[in-house]
Amino acid sequence: MSKTFYLTTPIYYVNDKPHIGHAYTTILADVLARFHRNAGQETFFLTGLDEHGQKVQQAAEDRGIEPLQHCDEMAPRFIDLWEKLHISYDDFIRTTENRHKIIVQMFLQKVYDAGDIYEDEYEGLYSVSEERFITEKEAESDEFRDIKKLKEKNYFFKMGKYQDALIDHIKSNPKFIQPEHRKNEILGFLRQPLNDLCVSRPKSRLNWGIELPFDKEYVTYVWFDALINYITSPGFGKDHESFDKWWPVSYHLIGKDILTTHAVYWPTMLMSADIELPQSIFAHGWWLMGESKMSKSIGNVINPMDLIDDYGVDPVRYYLMREMVLGQDSNFTMESFIQRYNSDLANDFGNLLSRISTLMKKNYDGRIPDPGELSEAELRIKTEGESLCSTVDGMIKNMRLNEAIENTMQYIRSVNKYMEENAPWKLVKEDKSAAGKILYTAGEALRLGAVLLSPVMPHRTSILLDAFNAPGADLSWGGLKPGATLKDHEPLFPRVK
Ligand code: MSP
Repeated sequence: MSKTFYLTTPIYYVNDKPHIGHAYTTILADVLARFHRNAGQETFFLTGLDEHGQKVQQAAEDRGIEPLQHCDEMAPRFIDLWEKLHISYDDFIRTTENRHKIIVQMFLQKVYDAGDIYEDEYEGLYSVSEERFITEKEAESDEFRDIKKLKEKNYFFKMGKYQDALIDHIKSNPKFIQPEHRKNEILGFLRQPLNDLCVSRPKSRLNWGIELPFDKEYVTYVWFDALINYITSPGFGKDHESFDKWWPVSYHLIGKDILTTHAVYWPTMLMSADIELPQSIFAHGWWLMGESKMSKSIGNVINPMDLIDDYGVDPVRYYLMREMVLGQDSNFTMESFIQRYNSDLANDFGNLLSRISTLMKKNYDGRIPDPGELSEAELRIKTEGESLCSTVDGMIKNMRLNEAIENTMQYIRSVNKYMEENAPWKLVKEDKSAAGKILYTAGEALRLGAVLLSPVMPHRTSILLDAFNAPGADLSWGGLKPGATLKDHEPLFPRVK
């Protein structure tokens, strides 16, 4: 295990209204960060906002205000949502911050000095409505208006020069692009010659961006600017000690929609600037709504705020993590959300706590009973719990999150079964110490389950651990202290309709 763990989300377009897709990547990063912190690894989790470019400039113009004011007014929509979702980021970066502009310019100058940026005149079809160059094929569709031939001087990054080096790197580092099918997609893309990348926009057309250090008439192409956030935050060019500590990043978490920019543009940019490449770029699939992509125009976008208000934060986090196989698309339906909530959370998990704590309160003076000498059935629960902890750890490290959660829930179900089979509510009338042993074992198993699920549901599991008077993330058997007083707690997961 390397000493430090650094992971990032994409920086989201400040103009977008946050939806379940943005929430998903950010929760995923948060869950991973919390797992690694619990495992004692020093962790740095970065998220933020992408604030330059045409769309922001346009939106601000439409509102008759300055672009920065527009960004300042839009940013809290994300920040507030992350607070509501209990996102434990360590840094939140906005590309309009000075600390970032300085680094983008330093980076550009470095690449320019290395001879990897050249000036060229580009002639092509330009869509005035979209404010960008389009291909012949795009021009044939009816999506673009006001098309004209345009000749424009711009700056280009010699991306093509790094094609072979990139292919070699991908082939010799199997974890560089994950999952496997995404790696193959990029290798397929790299079978065609790789074009150079236009990294400038003339100010006559767009001025909401970071000025090129070597030509004041131009601003930086928004993707070139945005990707650099990943090194700005840990201190590139400013705090060497910190940068060396965190870089290369452990994971760039992204959606599959932005794979090329991350797996082709970004590594070639880093090669040119002589900076180590990321350890891994992990692309997850999309949340779909009944087979189609969530989109504003179809009007099927799920608003995470509504779900949180209706069901609480942790059930939303749980559903998103449990339901998606990392790397594949997944369908979001309210029916499956409600079903997961009731069966996994209310029936299996929440009920187990209320059963145990009710019996302890009624028969043991509201205290944790003594486990005594463990017999076979109890030892089995203990051994299963211990092996579950190492299974979950391995699965998390291999990004098999939904399986880690399912394994934990299976354990909880087996503890429920153990309770049914041994019926401590009956036994307590004849043999209080035997019943106490069962309750202790079930309670301790539930505590382990709660610690394992705490990165996914930090709030509700903390209520559970608090009720048992056993805070902390200790995964060794025996965290429940005999004699400790139980605390009153609200129902963990009341059933919903
Ligand atoms: N600003 C760029 C990223 C720059 S990173 C240097 C951008 N922003 S975005 O606001 O469009 O966010 C894209 C990300 O949102 C995706 O990569 C993905 O993480 C997430 N999702 C957006 N829609 C999604 C779904 N329907 N499902 C799952 N995640 C999705 O692109």
